[in-house]
Amino acid sequence: MAFNLRNRHLLTLKHHTPQEIEYLLDLSRDLKNKKRDGIKGKLLAGKNVALIFEKPSTRTRCAFTVATIDEGGHPEYLGTNDIQLGHKEDVKDTARVLGRMFDGIEFRGYSQQTVEDLAKYSGVPVWNGLTDDYHPTQILADLLTVREKLGRLKGVKFVFCGDGRNNMANSLMIGCAKMGLHFVVAAPTSLHTDPEIVKECYQILEDTQSGGTIEITDDVQKAVKDADVIYTDVWASMGEEDKLAERKKILQPYQVNMELLKATGNPNVLFLHCLPAVKGYEVTEEVFESHHSKVFDQAENRMPTIKATIVSSIGNL
Ligand code: CP
Ligand code: NVA
Repeated sequence: MAFNLRNRHLLTLKHHTPQEIEYLLDLSRDLKNKKRDGIKGKLLAGKNVALIFEKPSTRTRCAFTVATIDEGGHPEYLGTNDIQLGHKEDVKDTARVLGRMFDGIEFRGYSQQTVEDLAKYSGVPVWNGLTDDYHPTQILADLLTVREKLGRLKGVKFVFCGDGRNNMANSLMIGCAKMGLHFVVAAPTSLHTDPEIVKECYQILEDTQSGGTIEITDDVQKAVKDADVIYTDVWASMGEEDKLAERKKILQPYQVNMELLKATGNPNVLFLHCLPAVKGYEVTEEVFESHHSKVFDQAENRMPTIKATIVSSIGNL
């Protein structure tokens, strides 16, 4: 079924219904197949896309760039050292200038407020390419990967081990709640997800009746039992590198190693990571390189899911 996502922002994933997310995943699959079949697209012909990056990026930047060019559009990379934003000009004015020239804006940076303000003042669709709080385009790639590998989303037991209050844990909780997965955060108590976000996710479960569940625990051995997917992320996110020494101490028991995968009791458990990974910290090299690990299929899926995000909101569909 086709949904009209025209002119829609993607700021947190909170405002997309499960049906709209399903539609984006279907469109991602179709766009992935289209590229595999060597069919050149024109869905973004004549469209200009601004890519603002305050923080570094490999996957997100490349996915936005290739996705736009594949469909005939023009991406413009704007590092914060290249533009006036944050130096001479505030977000509100930058938004109003870019909105006069570009058809859509991607933003990666620190504050969620910045991406919200770009959306408020630019007058064009804005896509969150990661902030301190959320990483919604990554969740689309993660859901697509799980759907491809397991053939379903509903009822999948998905365990996130590590920093339960970072952008990935927050966004995965939202995405899993919407799509009916059993989402578990295994983290030390001091890194349990912000109760406000947990509350919002319980409300999502109630509103969508997706059949999903949420559990937050510090008992990682119990948490992983019968898991279909084990997910982790860096112990110190971009901008909080000074916390690494403390994190190493408290997160060591949550490292994804072969012993932890065995504790799932599932010989086919999948290992996912948004990447970049710090091997030897949140995941061992052995797990990362094992047959459980689908991290490069997941990275590949950033492109078609981002393509679907852009095309659905500004494309000539
Ligand atoms: N996963 C992800 O967002 O990767 P980048 O930081 O390389 O964009
Ligand atoms: N939590 C990580 C995700 C990187 C894609 C960070 O913000 O650095």
